Amino acid sequence: MVRLVGDEGVMKGIKITSHLSDTLPVIRANVAYVGQALLNLLVNALEHTPSGTIEVKTYLKKEEAGDKVVIEVKDSGTGIDPDRMDSIFEPLTSFGKTQGRVLSVNAGMGLHFVKRIMEAHEGEVRVRSVLGEGTVFFLVFPAIKTASE
Ligand SMILES: Nc1ncnc2c1ncn2[C@@H]1O[C@H](COP(=O)(O)OP(=O)(O)O)[C@@H](O)[C@H]1O
Ligand SMILES: [Mg+2]
Repeated sequence: MVRLVGDEGVMKGIKITSHLSDTLPVIRANVAYVGQALLNLLVNALEHTPSGTIEVKTYLKKEEAGDKVVIEVKDSGTGIDPDRMDSIFEPLTSFGKTQGRVLSVNAGMGLHFVKRIMEAHEGEVRVRSVLGEGTVFFLVFPAIKTASE
């Protein structure tokens, strides 16, 4: 997946890196849908990162509510205006707002799909963004307890 969008990044001079943990607990996931969610995040990162880096990471996060497996997509791009944070997951709210867009792939549905896909996995999507510094999206999945635990 990273390799799929990697060429686009190379063309723009963006460095794309991935750190994938190989000792993660099991999650229950529809690979096609999660792949689509990840692709949406990567495309958004590319669209909003004029130069710099995009990092993809997976890791285990221990939380009070239970262990989580996290897929993180972090960019050093434009960031998101705090005023818009509440609406980015709404369908089509961003339609027409192509300001600062380098390339446009879908019309305001991307993050809405990501949110729906994560809900279907009993997980969630989280976001942290600083205007002018960059954005991090987290796909958070509940880890499945196995018999050995
Ligand atoms: N990585 C990002 N950096 C900055 N803004 C972002 C990022 N990802 C999403 N956004 C903001 O969230 C909005 C909604 O994203 P999305 O649902 O994928 O729709 P679209 O990309 O078609 O506008 C975008 O228009 C953009 O303003
Ligand atoms: Mg998008």
